[in-house]
Amino acid sequence: MEKFVVHGPCRLEGEVYISGAKNAAVAILPATLLVKGKCHLENVPDISDIRAYCKILESLGSKIEYISKNELIIDNSGVTSAIASYELTSKFRASYYLLGALIGRFDKVQIGLPGGCKLGARPIDQHIKALKKLGAKVVVRNGNVYASKTEPLKGANIFFDVVSVGSTMNAILAATLSEGTTVIENVAKEPHIVDLANFLNSMGAKIKGAGTDTIKITGVKELTQKSSYSIIPDQIETGTFMVAAAATKGDVLIKNCIPKHMEPITAKLIEAGAQVDEFESSIRVTMDKRPTSISIKTMPYPGFPTDMQPQMSILLALGDSTGTIVETIWESRFQYTDELAKMGADISAHGSTAIFRGVEQLYGAPVKAHDLRAGAAMIIAGLVAEGDTEVSDIHHIQRGYENIVEKFSKLGAKIDCITVEDKDE
Ligand code: EPU
Repeated sequence: MEKFVVHGPCRLEGEVYISGAKNAAVAILPATLLVKGKCHLENVPDISDIRAYCKILESLGSKIEYISKNELIIDNSGVTSAIASYELTSKFRASYYLLGALIGRFDKVQIGLPGGCKLGARPIDQHIKALKKLGAKVVVRNGNVYASKTEPLKGANIFFDVVSVGSTMNAILAATLSEGTTVIENVAKEPHIVDLANFLNSMGAKIKGAGTDTIKITGVKELTQKSSYSIIPDQIETGTFMVAAAATKGDVLIKNCIPKHMEPITAKLIEAGAQVDEFESSIRVTMDKRPTSISIKTMPYPGFPTDMQPQMSILLALGDSTGTIVETIWESRFQYTDELAKMGADISAHGSTAIFRGVEQLYGAPVKAHDLRAGAAMIIAGLVAEGDTEVSDIHHIQRGYENIVEKFSKLGAKIDCITVEDKDE
């Protein structure tokens, strides 16, 4: 079992290059199944969720050629199977996109239920509702979702009960090759949704309104890729380095990012006392004082992203008075606060609210990465803490951050990746 040992404290300084967006890539990879031919993808993040997705695609019959670790050519002309085993799908959440992608192409689909970070209840009722509206029959049994159709999917009006990233993506995937027009309302507007629509449109799909409250899709018969597609930079990786720069009172230029996507995070960093300078495709974050305590409420995009609240909590933990975080998306996202308490943070978390009474210093301790973003928060806490912070369960972090140790080390952090025997756990 591997652990990170973060030797703190340190001040981050220098430049970091952001990788492709995980949550766009995990939708675009299955979207390639809509093409009975080759798709060339660039800026694909080299992370374990992507490697898991490639394994699933290969199990269906895809041929994947690695031009480099971030550039792939996926040939789906030989895909004959529409069955993805629970063993493969339960490794991560985004395996549910196989449903929307495969039901457009096959009459019978069997997908094992998805896994992913334990952030609370993660129902898929809205995904199922969308597929049923388009004419598919869907049942969940024995750990699998079975979807079938006896005639081509037909365009429909879909109104989601909750704003859901995954359901919006799945509805887009299923409607792209359907007959007629689909109008989807109360949709999610995250940058990765726009990226999926752009990818599909670049191959002939007719999707309008991605990034707004209503998406309209006119079904097309087939898609063909004419030139390679480059995945957008990762909003949450960018935000993680922005917060790390501020928390360590550093000076970091974050390259290959989209400043517009960062607005909710930038606004909160400025409120906390950081200086944020935006350029065309980079952002510089500097900070030279103790953070001002702030309050945050997580919301769907363009609100403050739930996937940034654990990282941002380090600034609140060190704030000059009392700050709060209200989590509105996931009910179990505050597990990391117990870990921060081991490092000297003063936090009371009840239900959807956590109150942070700022302390002057955190102190290294053995802590656990409860999930992907909580793990990133533990690294940032370790960077500001006095002494060594040993972060366990780092496989969560490796699911979504490419070369995280190398990237932080280049900025001056001292992080070792050590292998320990399981009995130490
Ligand atoms: N929801 C339902 N029914 C559904 C689907 C969702 O009630 O059928 C609820 C959820 O319980 C939640 C809310 O709707 O309360 C939003 O869930 P959403 O569907 O938007 O989440 P997701 O698609 O499962 C994606 C990201 C998460 C991110 C959330 C929210 C991917 C692969 N995952 O999850 O990312 O937290 O959107 O922005 O895109 C991460 O990257 O660390 C991560 C957890």
